[in-house]
Amino acid sequence: MSTDKNITSVLKETRQFPPQTEFVAQANVNAAERERLAEWAKSDPDGFWAEQGRSLHWFKPWDAVLDWTNVPHAKWFVGGTINASFNCLDRHLAARGNKAAIVWEGEPGDTRTLTYQQLHREVCKFANALKGLGVGKGDRVTIYMPMVPEAAVAMLACARIGAMHSVVFGGFSADAVADRNNDAQSKLVITADGGWRRGKVVPLKANVDAALEKSPSVQKCVVLNRCNTAVEMKPGRDIWWHDLVADASADCPAEELDSEHPLFILYTSGSTGKPKGVLHTTGGYLLGTSLTHKWVFDIKEDDVYWCTADVGWITGHSYIVYGPLCNGATVVMYEGAPNQPREDRFWEIVAKYKVTILYTAPTAIRAFIKWGDQHPKAHDLSSLRLLGSVGEPINPEAWIWYHNVIGGGRCPIVDTWWQTETGAIMISPLPGAVATKPGSATKPLPGIQAEVVDKQGHPVPAGSGGFLVVKRPWPSMMRTIYGDDERYKATYWSNYPGVYFTADGARQDEDGYIWVMGRVDDVLNVSGHRLSTMEVESALVQHPKVAEAAVVGRPDDLKGEGIVCFVTLKQGTNPSDELKTELKAHVVHNIGALARPDDVRFSETLPKTRSGKIMRRFLRDIAAGRQATGDATTLEDFAVLAKLREDDE
Ligand code: WTA
Repeated sequence: MSTDKNITSVLKETRQFPPQTEFVAQANVNAAERERLAEWAKSDPDGFWAEQGRSLHWFKPWDAVLDWTNVPHAKWFVGGTINASFNCLDRHLAARGNKAAIVWEGEPGDTRTLTYQQLHREVCKFANALKGLGVGKGDRVTIYMPMVPEAAVAMLACARIGAMHSVVFGGFSADAVADRNNDAQSKLVITADGGWRRGKVVPLKANVDAALEKSPSVQKCVVLNRCNTAVEMKPGRDIWWHDLVADASADCPAEELDSEHPLFILYTSGSTGKPKGVLHTTGGYLLGTSLTHKWVFDIKEDDVYWCTADVGWITGHSYIVYGPLCNGATVVMYEGAPNQPREDRFWEIVAKYKVTILYTAPTAIRAFIKWGDQHPKAHDLSSLRLLGSVGEPINPEAWIWYHNVIGGGRCPIVDTWWQTETGAIMISPLPGAVATKPGSATKPLPGIQAEVVDKQGHPVPAGSGGFLVVKRPWPSMMRTIYGDDERYKATYWSNYPGVYFTADGARQDEDGYIWVMGRVDDVLNVSGHRLSTMEVESALVQHPKVAEAAVVGRPDDLKGEGIVCFVTLKQGTNPSDELKTELKAHVVHNIGALARPDDVRFSETLPKTRSGKIMRRFLRDIAAGRQATGDATTLEDFAVLAKLREDDE
């Protein structure tokens, strides 16, 4: 990789939105406080993090804040003992027992509210049930669930007994579930008969049945009856959730776990075809998520907070479950699609529950714009006071629409940059402290030393493209790739020794604001979901008619990036439109609907270097050439990223 000093941004997004007086007056963190925190974190990081760490409940205090001797394997709050489920539940019972923890709405319109008291009881019962199935400390449990409260119950029950959960997004295929079961050597799978999506039932249990044919480590399967659909229950292996908890005791003391006890594994796409099991541990992760939730979302006791992500992704882990519940917040959870039954479903929910804080993704915002202003305008959105964005760069047009049409011009927008690996938000405005610029995640949070550097690790001049890195360890950082320390070191810590490499390209402007452009590795960002080009390629070449495949992204107005596949067919196979359709379906079958190719192009050969490497840059140019997109930001970033990637190809 190289940075080209001549690449200067031509993007002229100059609008600025300073925090409004009224918001500042009530903000958790104002500009002076932010400054104080940032200075403190710089001059005395251990003292700073120790003070933050005291916001959690510890059974036993730590002996040292950070052990960074075995780089890059950090240990935070060394020697302390803690439990994430205790911090998210038990701690709130006295003051908030009857406060709503989860306000849930199913896609068909059924609703449920669980108070902290009730959630605690459900978690304790389910935790005891897990113990009864032989699940204990350090065991891996796969959770493949729809967006129902039981997904959070299952996660917190694992955390309570020290089992590690591995949540697999419900949109993944049976094969993807099997791969993850096998990599984690899961003992148990927790699923449901199905979940509602766009008026149809997603057959989760049937997918699990197929996955379990290929997952020898899995001994039992717990099935929640969500949709009342007929499923096969394999005797001796499958157990209904309701049968399991019927007689379970509601008394289950939380295990006192080491601060570094693994909390969960979450699989995410990297540069190779094999997804990585990102491992997070207890104390640091919980601190990172709860602290950023308090700072960035300005959370208050009476807020109604809604993060529209799925618990299958890191955003759901950190900002539906652990961060908000650790802070005793009221969390709205919605099961289904944003356009079911109509395109105004989100706005109906905001009005119905008087949501005050909404956290969603640019790809959703762009869809709302397309669907038309009449949908939000039909509802009373005056309860909203703060808006968030995550998952990909937000284009200024979408930002302005979000600000005006959804936020009524009065709500600050927090554009939050982070990754599965970082565990918690790293770069974001604090809404009462930092003036926002549409399209920029603004500045690193206090305690986070994120910088834009060139290939040698030197800061790049203002406006130039470079690589986003983090120079100091932070509490919620990943600890390793499950079962593969070497890959962890090679992927994140080998480009710059002792420095975390994000694989994102970015630039910093004259005011020190960071503009994240996108990935410089072979990871695509499709509708805010990470997908590796090699994952799709290896799915394609498993098809009997495919000889070779190369997959690249191209700018897409709605999805951020679209998937374009160049395919060479085996000799004697005729290219046809039917075959294109078949190949698209094949990828969906292998990975899941989120990987459905936008375009399949047959090619007699693929462009290669003399050493035989596919020249992706050419393919990207060809793929993008067809797509005329009107958004200058996307096109500009596309060009800069191409330069940053150049040495790689
Ligand atoms: C991208 C999601 C620009 C980025 C939390 C990162 C963003 C990848 C932003 C991580 C943002 C996420 N602005 N780009 N606000 N947020 N990204 O692991 O490329 O699913 O590396 O975590 O999404 O995706 P992941």
